[in-house]
Amino acid sequence: MSRTTATFLCAECGAASPRWAGRCPSCGAWNSISETATIAPTKKAAAPLVATPLHGVDETGTVARPSGVGELDRVLGGGFVPGSTTLLFGEPGIGKSTLALMTLRAHAARGERVLLVAAEESASQVAQRARRLGDVPDGLDVIATSDVAAAAATLLAHPPTLCVVDSVSAMVDDSVGSVAGSVTQVRHAADILCGIAKQTGTALVLVGHVTKDGELSGPRALEHLVDTVVRVDGDRHGALRLVRALKHRFGPTGEVGLLEMSGDGLREVPDPSLTLRGEGLDVPGVATTVITDGSRSLVVEIQALVATGSGSPRRVAHQVSSQRLSLLLAVLEARCHVDVSGSDVFATTAGGLPAVEPAADLALALAVASVAKGVCIPRSWAALGEVGLAGELRSVGSLTRRLKELSRLGITTVLVPLAGDVEEIPGLTVVRCRSLLDAIHAVTTGS
Ligand code: TYD
Ligand code: MG
Repeated sequence: MSRTTATFLCAECGAASPRWAGRCPSCGAWNSISETATIAPTKKAAAPLVATPLHGVDETGTVARPSGVGELDRVLGGGFVPGSTTLLFGEPGIGKSTLALMTLRAHAARGERVLLVAAEESASQVAQRARRLGDVPDGLDVIATSDVAAAAATLLAHPPTLCVVDSVSAMVDDSVGSVAGSVTQVRHAADILCGIAKQTGTALVLVGHVTKDGELSGPRALEHLVDTVVRVDGDRHGALRLVRALKHRFGPTGEVGLLEMSGDGLREVPDPSLTLRGEGLDVPGVATTVITDGSRSLVVEIQALVATGSGSPRRVAHQVSSQRLSLLLAVLEARCHVDVSGSDVFATTAGGLPAVEPAADLALALAVASVAKGVCIPRSWAALGEVGLAGELRSVGSLTRRLKELSRLGITTVLVPLAGDVEEIPGLTVVRCRSLLDAIHAVTTGS
């Protein structure tokens, strides 16, 4: 027995409420709430279940199987878990379909049968994209449909080891009285397909779109429903793509995967530090630092430019924190006699990787100071440390690991805060600085 009740759902965030309101109490969106009929199960007497001793439970069902894309495996801690659902989301054009197709191809190449549910493209469009990535192996099947019931029936009839639905936002079920792309439709599609994946042991990947403000359109309501949420981002005009797990029921979420978009798909970056640092010029305004991301240490180049602008001075921070930049400009003025308050200041990283952690403060401040003073920081130098409001340098974590990475790339001198133990690294001179002023002095005098 079941009964039909009225629920009010927000089209923006998917929050349910028992009554209508002009403004969603959950996300604050206006006029986004509409009524939907839902089926609520009535209480019935249930038979008791037989409880199993936990130590006797079979764990093999949760063992991840390689996705075939090394960087994705790094993020997922091994690969996709059979029967689990992964939401793969990112901005349009970032490479979600390409990444999904690469993992499908890798599964098929090792003899598995996999399925792509193409809800937005025709089978021939998919074939064209697949051929760009190389020969198409046997075992990679495609159905071009946006019908949830048809996809569900196909999955149940011949369960593949991996199924990608591209995209879940386009899936519709005619029996649901809501327009395609609405939260109700997307949630319904995900619910049905997730259930089938769990039942059949198929690893399911749902591709989701994000809207311009970075929220998952509709699929934000899916986050709690799926086991894993993976985001692909990066600067669409550059080649670098970052892959991260925001939620992962089967492992940690701190790892970052780095891929490069090329003419034939996404490629692993063989030596990320080397690629990110690039072939910088010996000009004022360039400083090298090293950031940590998950278990990775990555060397990045920070660039700053100070220019005389007309009107009110602009501060443009790209891939570096705009708050940290403002703070550092204030500290440079108040504690170090470097006054750029009347000028435009631009700061960015070379290579497209964000360097927003406080450990990048010193390099960012030195880049600005060096351009203001017209001196070059030698390319064999690097700097790391958080800058405090008094201009003092604060210690950073994983110092030895960071220094080893700098040394590997040929850095010979590193400016670091006073605090923090470091192992001696052959060929690397560590210069301890108490303050930003000390570090500027070291850079301008070369000692
Ligand atoms: P796509 O995977 O379609 O992005 P999404 O599914 O996230 O919208 O890829 C988008 C861009 O990548 C598109 O502009 C074409 C480009 N691309 C390549 O540069 N190389 C390739 O091998 C492929 C398949 C795509
Ligand atoms: Mg796509």
